[in-house]
Amino acid sequence: MKFPIGIKILGVGAGIPSTIISNADLEKLVATSDEWIASRTGISERRIVAEETASSLASEAARDAMGFAGIKGEQIDLIIVATSTPDYLYPSTACMVQADIKANSAAAFDLEAACTGIIYALAVAQQFIASGTFKTVLVIGVDLHSRFLNWEDRNTCILFGDGAAAFILQASENENDILSTYLRSDGSGAHLLKIPNPGTYYPHPDKALCKDTEKFVQMNGRPVYEFAVKAVPEAVHTAIERANIKLEDVDYLVPHQANIRIMNSAAERLGMSKEKIVSNIDKVGNTSAASIPLALWHGIQSNQIKTPSICALVGFGAGLTWGASIIRWNAKDARSK
Ligand code: UT7
Repeated sequence: MKFPIGIKILGVGAGIPSTIISNADLEKLVATSDEWIASRTGISERRIVAEETASSLASEAARDAMGFAGIKGEQIDLIIVATSTPDYLYPSTACMVQADIKANSAAAFDLEAACTGIIYALAVAQQFIASGTFKTVLVIGVDLHSRFLNWEDRNTCILFGDGAAAFILQASENENDILSTYLRSDGSGAHLLKIPNPGTYYPHPDKALCKDTEKFVQMNGRPVYEFAVKAVPEAVHTAIERANIKLEDVDYLVPHQANIRIMNSAAERLGMSKEKIVSNIDKVGNTSAASIPLALWHGIQSNQIKTPSICALVGFGAGLTWGASIIRWNAKDARSK
């Protein structure tokens, strides 16, 4: 392999649970309405798991991406799973996926950067490929927030859904599909969005701190919203600059699917047409680490995203974390040959 090594995106895939929870279903659980949820977030329904686990959903996404890319498990050298809701504290979800898809010669680990996890995972994969360490990398984003939602808290239970999505990346001598990446975090905002327990902070010696609510998603939505509307355009601008392209060169904005108002505001602040936004939030809600590749996958399935094209992937979330990656989408589905 000659240096510098480029990266080809060979495929994407998805794993989506079959159980649908509509806004009307949530009206029966909390004081909310379809009108409020749809107008404030853009969400109409979301999917939640029944028997599936983070690893089974991730494996489904992996198999779909491998089918798209036309590669087998034994060709994969590294598996990175971005997740905040793993099957276990250990072993890693990535190791469970490795066994499922028979990627017998791969290394595997999990990475946690909440909803920005997939952008972090792409950046890590990029480094490993560019250094010549690994040739073929499977990157998965998966989250099962339904397991950690308080179904009596209307501030959070209406927002999240479960899902998984995956990329297959491969070293290339003459092509490069990851044009840039940009990663940031600000731990001073850590308290704004969290699932405190399970974690090693609990059981805390001070039992008074061990409230039942600590096992659920806790969010202060307004400040997260205010952070996001600034972080998204900043990340996209920086990633565009690093990719040495212009805003007009970007065909699609593929943002983290947390709230359609955040996506619209980002497009407006960037001076980008709303037509360029790729969104599936109405159907799946906020699927956290899966959100960006799942939106990309839906955009490809629905023929919104044309080949070849330039996509700005941008994420934000707990940490606080945020980041963006400019990619070239130019993959052909091996199954349609
Ligand atoms: O992956 C990253 C994760 N999180 C995010 O990105 C979340 C970012 N934040 C948001 O998307 C928005 O802040 C929310 C969608 C969470 C909330 O929208 P908002 O426009 O910021 O509403 P708000 O929190 O300011 O609440 C407005 C009103 C309040 O009532 P009052 O005090 O005005 O009477 C809330 O109690 O809406 C009420 N409200 C609801 N009403 C019906 C809050 N949640 C609901 C609900 N149904 N589900």
